[in-house]
Amino acid sequence: MDPRKIGFIGTGTITDAMVRGLLTNPAAVSRVTVSPRNAKIARQLADDFAEVSIAADNQAVIDASDMVVLAVRPQIAQDVVSGLTFRKGQSVLSVIAATDCKTLLGWIGVDVHLVQAIPLPFVADREGVTAVFPPDAHVAALFSVLGTAVECETKEEYDLLAAASSLMSTVLGIMDVSAAWLEERGLAKGKGRAYIASLFASLSQTALRSDTVALKELSSEFATKGGLNEQVLSDFHKNGGRDALILALDGVLARIKGA
Ligand SMILES: NC(=O)c1ccc[n+]([C@@H]2O[C@H](COP(=O)([O-])OP(=O)(O)OC[C@H]3O[C@@H](n4cnc5c(N)ncnc54)[C@H](OP(=O)(O)O)[C@@H]3O)[C@@H](O)[C@H]2O)c1
Repeated sequence: MDPRKIGFIGTGTITDAMVRGLLTNPAAVSRVTVSPRNAKIARQLADDFAEVSIAADNQAVIDASDMVVLAVRPQIAQDVVSGLTFRKGQSVLSVIAATDCKTLLGWIGVDVHLVQAIPLPFVADREGVTAVFPPDAHVAALFSVLGTAVECETKEEYDLLAAASSLMSTVLGIMDVSAAWLEERGLAKGKGRAYIASLFASLSQTALRSDTVALKELSSEFATKGGLNEQVLSDFHKNGGRDALILALDGVLARIKGA
């Protein structure tokens, strides 16, 4: 794939994030064409970046682009994609959740070069980790500009990372419950959130820096025998915290695989 001219069908949250990341100076692509919906997001992108133009319709996006990114919601994807004409061999990158390559190729109807990816909103700041399937040097290079690309050798690996990406709201939810708990018990407003956000950032940095040490071992390192961390970890497990997490991941993986 040569993404010098990239087009987006579906100009929503994730397109906004990708375009902003790609066009941060120095820009990674020379021209971006976006579809007219959502009108407000498309207009804002065109106002913010000289490289962005708004196409008249979805077909005009395809016709203007080397690489076409499909970024509509899964519920309307078939209607949108099957009504369009792609060039044989054209590069297509789908970020549509829970819709596999075989299904997409059936809707596209010609033999395109299709790759799937799971960009996350952090790509806007070039800090996103993005799963890519199947492995593809050009798409991996694109997402390396936007953070880190993780190329998956199999659909099973890709589905597992899709499940992992579903943890975002839960992790923020744990932060929310903890910060609220602190403030409800007397900590001055705002201090709980600031403390918890920094604590989680430091823990993530520790896991990233010590990538050869097993996470279980890192967790034990913080759990001094008879200490406070050990008590919370033990209570969390005893009260079903670990089981609830595994159950939730199994559930979302089953949904992803059923797609
Ligand atoms: N957000 C994420 O973090 C994330 C991460 C990875 C993958 N994804 C996937 O990326 C896709 C887009 O997600 P999103 O969060 O960006 O959703 P979104 O904000 O709802 O964006 C979807 C966009 O599609 C537009 N649209 C509706 N009908 C259309 C049509 N017929 N032709 C062209 N565009 C049309 C919508 O415009 P209107 O507003 O005018 O209806 C909207 O702007 C989904 O499949 C999602 O699963 C999202």
